[in-house]
Amino acid sequence: MRPEFRILTLLCLLSLKLVVAKQPNILLIVADDYGFHDVGYHGSEIKTPNLDKLAMSGVRLENYYVQPICTPTRSQLLSGRYQIHTGLQHGIIWPAQPSGIPLDNPLLPEKLKEVGYSTHAVGKWHVGFYKDDYLPTSRGFDSYFGYLTGSEDYYTHYRCYDKMCGTDLRDNTVPADLYNGTYSTHLFADKVIDIVDKHDAEKPLFVYLPFQAVHAPLQVPQKYIDRYSNIKNKKRRTYAGMVTCMDEAVGMIADALKNKGIWDNTILIFTTDNGGQIHEGGNNWPLRGWKASLWEGGMHGVGFVHSNLLDKRVIGSVSPQLIHVTDWFPTIVKLAGGSLNGTQPLDGFNQWSTINYGETSPRKELLHNIDPLYPASGQPLSNSTFNTTIRAALRVGDWKIITGEPGNGSWVPPPHMDSPIIDDARKDKQNVWLFNIAEDPNERNDLSGKRTDIVTKMLDKLLYYQKSAVPVFSPPNDPKADPEGGFWGPWE
Ligand SMILES: *[C@@H]1O[C@H](CO)[C@@H](O)[C@H](O)[C@H]1NC(C)=O
Ligand SMILES: *[C@@H]1O[C@H](CO)[C@@H](O)[C@H](O)[C@H]1NC(C)=O
Ligand SMILES: *[C@@H]1O[C@H](CO)[C@@H](O)[C@H](O)[C@H]1NC(C)=O
Ligand SMILES: *[C@@H]1O[C@H](CO)[C@@H](O)[C@H](O)[C@H]1NC(C)=O
Ligand SMILES: *[C@@H]1O[C@H](CO)[C@@H](O)[C@H](O)[C@H]1NC(C)=O
Repeated sequence: MRPEFRILTLLCLLSLKLVVAKQPNILLIVADDYGFHDVGYHGSEIKTPNLDKLAMSGVRLENYYVQPICTPTRSQLLSGRYQIHTGLQHGIIWPAQPSGIPLDNPLLPEKLKEVGYSTHAVGKWHVGFYKDDYLPTSRGFDSYFGYLTGSEDYYTHYRCYDKMCGTDLRDNTVPADLYNGTYSTHLFADKVIDIVDKHDAEKPLFVYLPFQAVHAPLQVPQKYIDRYSNIKNKKRRTYAGMVTCMDEAVGMIADALKNKGIWDNTILIFTTDNGGQIHEGGNNWPLRGWKASLWEGGMHGVGFVHSNLLDKRVIGSVSPQLIHVTDWFPTIVKLAGGSLNGTQPLDGFNQWSTINYGETSPRKELLHNIDPLYPASGQPLSNSTFNTTIRAALRVGDWKIITGEPGNGSWVPPPHMDSPIIDDARKDKQNVWLFNIAEDPNERNDLSGKRTDIVTKMLDKLLYYQKSAVPVFSPPNDPKADPEGGFWGPWE
């Protein structure tokens, strides 16, 4: 080869390497209480044209799991670790509880900042705020705009809890008092668009956008409700409007990234935090149960990835591979060219090859949870293995075991179907269930009586996980948390 050719080849290789190594922008969107049946591409009566378009030209994750409720999912998403390893295995963090993701767990934005990312969070926090150290800007976010507790009024941003009342909205660390009357979906979308517009495109960008939508209270500007005059059920109609408003916001944010010229190098990840709440307009048909339960309706979540960086062969595909919300932490850190140094042992797996090349998931097991504080149910099945009175669930391959009290296990069709609820035909004091989820995704056929061999193996596995659990941390409410009509915020 002639010397000048050699140099040219070298330069080409180098620039190729640079292109490949360019860190992608990450937009991580979390919808709140968004049900399995509530996205257009799952056959919903609710219209989500933007989500459908992004998902159908991305990879739809259809064997994808989150936790049954809010704080648990968010804590696992941001730490990459199961709740049994952070002490947060019991319930959510209530507004007056002095709790949070323990500080010795670096959060996702901290790892991204280490490798040069500009990091921003807009929306719901709900993983602890009782001390300044737990605020988003103390935990790796360059900027934060949003609310710290679990739910509030969409317009006034006011929240009452246990007779303690106050506004919950913050701009970085300071109370944000200019937004009374602005609907949160619009407010958060505007903030994200502003971040995108002002972003220095030389740097990689990480935006974490946990929407308030579509959690209760059921509120949305009337024009969105008006699109659903065909839905007779009032709660469902309002909820549908909320979903469509969120869908519109996602479309506007995608447009902002396109206008900025950074969309082609952006990876959009969309996930719900848990199943839909059937009493507040959500729906998970045909799955069993709903939010807060260990049935599939509580945890089998809506999720997809969209990016022009995806391998062409997976565009438009469905991934049947087992993926869990803890997996985003190592997946995103690795995509960013970051290091997992300094983290505690992670429970998540890097799933990029699974998503981008359709490879087999490295995840063979999924501990849904073990909650020793949940009221005991029934009698232990045997004294030699896992105590089945405890609320727990575990997936190994296609098998899923549930123990203790999983929550109401009815199948609830969406109101417009006009078909009856199929009641949870539970045997008295039953506290063990076994399903083959691949064959029976809707948990119609309990095999715990027939496959006692599998039950025994899975109980042993639960015992193994239980041995690695740290004690539950769920402190009592602290009266000092009371904002007394001012703003919710750190009180210690
Ligand atoms: C927000 O606006 C509403 C309606 O105007 C009003 O009733 C409420 O007191 C305001 N809240 C705060 C915290 O200013
Ligand atoms: C990770 O930690 C090891 C051991 O402490 C160190 O040798 C290595 O340089 C670190 N890597 C990064 C990317 O920080
Ligand atoms: C099983 O766990 C329950 C709490 O769920 C506890 O009250 C009971 O003592 C335990 N039983 C045994 C045999 O360990
Ligand atoms: C299991 O434990 C229960 C209560 O702790 C006890 O009554 C029962 O005899 C034990 N069964 C066996 C087989 O050890
Ligand atoms: C379960 O929930 C359904 C739907 O709300 C209800 O009709 C049923 O009575 C509940 N079952 C139990 C045992 O609470």
